[in-house]
Amino acid sequence: MKFCFIRQRITVLYVIVLLLPLAVSDLDGDKQALLNFANAVPHGRKLNWTSATPICSSWVGITCSQDGTRVISLRLPASGLVGSIPNNTLGQLDALRTLSLRSNLLSGNLPSDITSLPSLQYLFVQHNNFSGDIPSSLSPQLDILDLSFNSFTGSIPLALQNLTRLITLSLQNNSLSGPLPNLTLPSLRHLNLSYNHFNGSIPSSLQMFPNTSFLGNLALCGEPLNSCLPITPPPAPSSVLPPPEGSHKQSPKRKLPLWAIIAIAVGGSLLLFLLILVVCLCCLKRKKSDDGSVLKGKSSVGGRSEKPKQEFGSGVQEPDRNKLTFFEGTSYNFDLEDLLRASAEVLGKGSFGTAYKAVLEESTTVVVKRLKEVIVGKKEFEQQMEIIGRLGQHAHLVPLRAYYYSKDEKLLVNDYFSNGSLSTLLHGSRTTERIPLDWETRVKITIGAARGIAHIHHAGGAKFAHGNIKSSNLLINQDMDSCVSDFGIAPLMNFPAPPPRYPGYRAPELVQTRKHTHKSDVYSFGVLLLEMLTGKQPMQSPGREEMVDLPKWVQSVVREEWTAEVFDVELLKIQNIEEEMVQMLQIAMACVTKVPDIRPSMDDVVRMIEEVSQRNSDTRPSSEDNNPIT
Ligand SMILES: *[C@@H]1O[C@H](CO)[C@@H](O)[C@H](O)[C@H]1NC(C)=O
Ligand SMILES: *[C@@H]1O[C@H](CO)[C@@H](O)[C@H](O)[C@H]1NC(C)=O
Ligand SMILES: *[C@@H]1O[C@H](CO)[C@@H](O)[C@H](O)[C@H]1NC(C)=O
Ligand SMILES: *[C@@H]1O[C@H](CO)[C@@H](O)[C@H](O)[C@H]1NC(C)=O
Ligand SMILES: *[C@@H]1O[C@H](CO)[C@@H](O)[C@H](O)[C@H]1NC(C)=O
Ligand SMILES: *[C@@H]1O[C@H](CO)[C@@H](O)[C@H](O)[C@H]1NC(C)=O
Ligand SMILES: *[C@@H]1O[C@H](CO)[C@@H](O)[C@H](O)[C@H]1NC(C)=O
Ligand SMILES: *[C@@H]1O[C@H](CO)[C@@H](O)[C@H](O)[C@H]1NC(C)=O
Ligand SMILES: *[C@@H]1O[C@H](CO)[C@@H](O)[C@H](O)[C@H]1NC(C)=O
Repeated sequence: MKFCFIRQRITVLYVIVLLLPLAVSDLDGDKQALLNFANAVPHGRKLNWTSATPICSSWVGITCSQDGTRVISLRLPASGLVGSIPNNTLGQLDALRTLSLRSNLLSGNLPSDITSLPSLQYLFVQHNNFSGDIPSSLSPQLDILDLSFNSFTGSIPLALQNLTRLITLSLQNNSLSGPLPNLTLPSLRHLNLSYNHFNGSIPSSLQMFPNTSFLGNLALCGEPLNSCLPITPPPAPSSVLPPPEGSHKQSPKRKLPLWAIIAIAVGGSLLLFLLILVVCLCCLKRKKSDDGSVLKGKSSVGGRSEKPKQEFGSGVQEPDRNKLTFFEGTSYNFDLEDLLRASAEVLGKGSFGTAYKAVLEESTTVVVKRLKEVIVGKKEFEQQMEIIGRLGQHAHLVPLRAYYYSKDEKLLVNDYFSNGSLSTLLHGSRTTERIPLDWETRVKITIGAARGIAHIHHAGGAKFAHGNIKSSNLLINQDMDSCVSDFGIAPLMNFPAPPPRYPGYRAPELVQTRKHTHKSDVYSFGVLLLEMLTGKQPMQSPGREEMVDLPKWVQSVVREEWTAEVFDVELLKIQNIEEEMVQMLQIAMACVTKVPDIRPSMDDVVRMIEEVSQRNSDTRPSSEDNNPIT
């Protein structure tokens, strides 16, 4: 017995001793494979890969695993690589997860030792001139396979059926042919087979994709394209392939007898009439309730606000009626009296109070914020207002125009932004639907916000933090640029108790310290980035249930491997931004690190985001003239 134990221990020791040098030699192996690749494939842009320099830290395009023992990602997009890739070069990088060689001039076969790398998750080789068959040995880990815009021939390999994790399959603009296999891939969300030479009918498992997934295949038919001719096509060449189906079943079903068409038409117009009636009635009702929301009366909209009798001027004392303090450079010329007479509408209730949209008589529109639970005295309040007013003179900050302070009432006056906030753009609001927000705009908004917050940290000094960064405080101007609002208010207020399970944007250390810092701002900004990437809300908004602890959720999905599943479905529809999204995700994850000292500074964040968007916007083919950097 005892003997056995000892033997076991010795074996364990042996294994550890054996593994240690192995890890090092793996990295050497990766290095040699990469050097072989660089020697064999001519490249327009110089690769600074030399055997003397450390591969993980100074070779362009390389990312290593966290412990620095293996190369896990190789990205050389638009690097002028020419010619074919020999076997036994990149195919030796057997810890590789991401390979991007898109937009080069590579040709010849795509070596199957690359596509079958056991950990490979993301393969981007679009916009090259690879030819020959698609390799039939494919890594079962593949999430994204993009072979589009090449010269591949042959049919779709059946091995694809084994890729249960596959999310994106892009094969458009090749010369592939043959019938489409009945692929049942549970994770597949984005499919493009357009502009090839496929023939036969579209199998039932792929019919839920839009017709733009199948364009330009002249001999392809069936849902969602034109229905197949009732002539039965000849059976597919291979017996392994599922026979083309749907052709003779579907077309008879589509022909309806005349009476049915008439019935449908009559029914349809009746329904339409009813619908119009309902809409009209709603409009009438709505108009009535709008009339009632003049400030003098009640400021409730749609009967939703909790205290319908509320108006923002109720705490203003009679002798004070002209004590609105304006900041320099403000062109507004109304007084408090005018403001109180304005028609007002509740915009939203935040943690610091309620915001109203006030339309003054000469059709000036401003936002009035009514702060609740201010705990500082007049002097301190005024000093803070001075700082806020001074800081606000920046392209990405919402300037404070005026304020009012009395014992019972504290008001702030800001400009009104008709485009709403990042929150309304991403999630819609009570009155507006969510509109799909493209990647360039998201990046532009994010960069603007980061610059605004960095300015606050710079110009406000070490003790001045924003304190309330969230998507509803990121207002969007006419140019779809973002302006940060509500900064510097937090220290004036009673510190609200955090909701127990959902911290929202709030950094974990705030539970103890109760003091907003630059680093807690960075955390909040990280959550905001995650919100932009995932389309998910980190905080409850009225009438919506969907809410998660975003950093936790993303960590649980991503774990060690970056998965496309975390991203907003709207973003997954856009081509060629996967790398950028993953890089943004990495920045966000750095910001939401638990330990404040490890988080990057806001200046670092600005620099990193600018790098990601710059690096990719000169290689991304679809955005030549829409550079988000200003
Ligand atoms: C190679 O280029 C990358 C990026 O351009 C740079 O970060 C790295 O320091 C360079 N390495 C050497 C050895 O010059
Ligand atoms: C690479 O390997 C494949 C399969 O092993 C083989 O068919 C092909 O000829 C090889 N290519 C070269 C250039 O050696
Ligand atoms: C791509 O490769 C094919 C041969 O495989 C060749 O005929 C064609 O000219 C190449 N196209 C370009 C743009 O280089
Ligand atoms: C799918 O995987 C299984 C097991 O790994 C294998 O036996 C089978 O041949 C694969 N199917 C295809 C079509 O490659
Ligand atoms: C893809 O193929 C279609 C049809 O041949 C063509 O109109 C389109 O320009 C191609 N796209 C590219 C980038 O080659
Ligand atoms: C598809 O095209 C191939 C030849 O390119 C032909 O053999 C086959 O019969 C065609 N299949 C259908 C369903 O038309
Ligand atoms: C194709 O797959 C679907 C399941 O996604 C199945 O219901 C259907 O019967 C299959 N069709 C053929 C022809 O195998
Ligand atoms: C694709 O479908 C849309 C509507 O869903 C239709 O307007 C369009 O004409 C269709 N295009 C083709 C090529 O069938
Ligand atoms: C597929 O690619 C073609 C050609 O590039 C494009 O026109 C089409 O919109 C794409 N379809 C989808 C669903 O992305």
